[in-house]
Amino acid sequence: MINNHHEKYSAFLQNETATIELSAILATICCNSATVIYLYGSLGSGKTTFSRGFLHKLGYQGNVKSPTYTLVEHYELALINVYHFDLYRLSHPEELEFIGVRDYFDHNAIHLIEWPQQGEGFLPQPDISLHLSYKNKGRYAKIISYTIHGGCILKKFKGATRLLYACLS
Ligand SMILES: Nc1ncnc2c1ncn2[C@@H]1O[C@H](COP(=O)(O)OP(=O)(O)OP(=O)(O)O)[C@@H](O)[C@H]1O
Ligand SMILES: [Mg+2]
Repeated sequence: MINNHHEKYSAFLQNETATIELSAILATICCNSATVIYLYGSLGSGKTTFSRGFLHKLGYQGNVKSPTYTLVEHYELALINVYHFDLYRLSHPEELEFIGVRDYFDHNAIHLIEWPQQGEGFLPQPDISLHLSYKNKGRYAKIISYTIHGGCILKKFKGATRLLYACLS
């Protein structure tokens, strides 16, 4: 459901560890609820780093590589299923129909979608989106929510980061 209470959050991520920390906090909040997360950002901006941190926080211990050629990787985890998409090589959004994408989206699962603009019109709407861009030697991150569920996630996320930074300072 679309609402007009968009939550927003932004932060500077000074290195890879900061990207992983952000993903771990979000993973802890989303852990057992069906959630669609769009991951935007140019090549090498950290989308897979985010996905890796997210999956590791949910207990996956193996190697997480970008499913550039397979388009999607499925992780069956103790708490929930996670589908990690990389749509960079998709030539037409319609191709998603051929890989049976509807079946993936019917599941009660978390969807992490790199290059969602490549699949426009054939993807479920996001609960939240993460936008990564290059800034100095790090990355600038912006998170936006689009649904009531996404708004709840982002409110919890803001609370968690406030506590985190309060503890650190
Ligand atoms: N906050 C950060 N500051 C600096 N470097 C970072 C940060 N986050 C991730 N990186 C580094 O960016 C590099 C590229 O990351 P990654 O592969 O996750 O990008 P990507 O967005 O998935 O790229 P692609 O579009 O090719 O899939 C990695 O070497 C990673 O260590
Ligand atoms: Mg990637």
